Amino acid sequence: MRLAIAGGTGMTGEHVAAIARGRGHDVVLLSRRTGVELLSGAGLAGALEGIDALIDVTNVVTAKPDVSVMFFAGATKNLLAAERAAGVPHHLVLTIVGAEAAPDGYYAGKLAQERLVAGGVVPWTILRTTQFHEYAAMMFHRTHAGAHVASTGRIQPVAVREVAEHLVDLAERGPAGRTTDLGGPREESLADMVHRYAHAIGYRAPLPVVNTPGTLGRAFRSGALLPGADALRGTQTFSEWLDALPDA
Ligand SMILES: NC(=O)c1ccc[n+]([C@@H]2O[C@H](COP(=O)([O-])OP(=O)(O)OC[C@H]3O[C@@H](n4cnc5c(N)ncnc54)[C@H](OP(=O)(O)O)[C@@H]3O)[C@@H](O)[C@H]2O)c1
Repeated sequence: MRLAIAGGTGMTGEHVAAIARGRGHDVVLLSRRTGVELLSGAGLAGALEGIDALIDVTNVVTAKPDVSVMFFAGATKNLLAAERAAGVPHHLVLTIVGAEAAPDGYYAGKLAQERLVAGGVVPWTILRTTQFHEYAAMMFHRTHAGAHVASTGRIQPVAVREVAEHLVDLAERGPAGRTTDLGGPREESLADMVHRYAHAIGYRAPLPVVNTPGTLGRAFRSGALLPGADALRGTQTFSEWLDALPDA
């Protein structure tokens, strides 16, 4: 198959590209580093000729709903228009389990992205997964007033490599609509994960446990971001991911 990977130079995208190439697929990477600006659409024309499926793993780092919606809706509209023009038969996008539980921040953009894909004319698949193991690192490095903290929450993290494998499986299978969610093998405490990550990289200073205010903090504490009983389960645990860290 010939697969286009929007965001193919990012964390998830690099795994998707490596797995797809390993299975013998042709891969076209779409990102600013490869000359494609998805918000303006520059570089998209001509890039999708002969593509059998496009996997969207683009991202913007923001907690602001307007910025998130502008990015995900803008990029998705341009991708769908270019796919329609080029006759791409499958648009596959990665989003997040429980996004509707925190619709007033980053997840606003993910929900807008899902609505556009599901309402569009290009046959589609939406895969929702839980947070990746790397979420612990992201939370540790996102300081508050210059201090590291460990936010409370319930989380069932999954290995990004397993998410990428599943995305390539889904691209090979063809459009499936809203497909079964994917989560990690076991529930963890987010604060515990952040502490264990900090310890693994040699951080020994105090790391206070805090209840992050706002909708996202509440969604994490309530368990709204956990996968349901019918979700698929990855196999790599957070402990195994920690053990494999280069700094560990
Ligand atoms: N992290 C998690 O726990 C988690 C969990 C579930 C789902 N997800 C979803 O996974 C997806 C991928 O996340 P990630 O952390 O792997 O992303 P990432 O590492 O931040 O990579 C983002 C990619 O998007 C590209 N990009 C950004 N702005 C662009 C633009 N204007 N035009 C073209 N390309 C652009 C970047 O390439 P350039 O910089 O070269 O443009 C890069 O390839 C996201 O949609 C996220 O919602 C994440």
